[in-house]
Amino acid sequence: MVSNKVETALNKQIEFEASSSQYYLAMASWAETQGLTGVAEFLYAQSDEERMHMLKLVKYVNERGGHALVPALKEQPKKFKSIQYVFEEVLKHEVFVSNEINGLVDICLKEKDYTTHNFLQWYVAEQIEEEALARKILDKLKLIGDDKGGMYLFDRDLPSISIAGAGRGGK
Ligand code: FEO
Repeated sequence: MVSNKVETALNKQIEFEASSSQYYLAMASWAETQGLTGVAEFLYAQSDEERMHMLKLVKYVNERGGHALVPALKEQPKKFKSIQYVFEEVLKHEVFVSNEINGLVDICLKEKDYTTHNFLQWYVAEQIEEEALARKILDKLKLIGDDKGGMYLFDRDLPSISIAGAGRGGK
């Protein structure tokens, strides 16, 4: 059984994962309208992955005798000023989520909820991967700069980077 404190904190995390999914979906849709099909494919997959993170939490909360709450959808940005900006936002967002996960882990320790603490280790590892992937992409974008040919190759190769990157794709 989860305590009220842990349940509330997990429900908050459900909201963060859901809003990550929506945010990346908005980015994917925008990228697709810019003709960046590879970037869009990558971001659609990221959006799906965040929904999976949310679902995993929903099922866990209910399994442990709590009640997982489905958060409202917030309006997302329609436009993004550049691809560079999109991935800066992805990194910023993932760093924020990592901090939230750390806070959640801390609450579990204080509440002596070692089961949830154990469950959250998957998220801790996942955040390390997601931050590393966003940094890797930003490094590539820095190298490309304004080079259109470089951007063409980046867009072509990005979906395979996401699958090959840090053991992803098997979850
Ligand atoms: Fe599920 Fe990227 O945090």
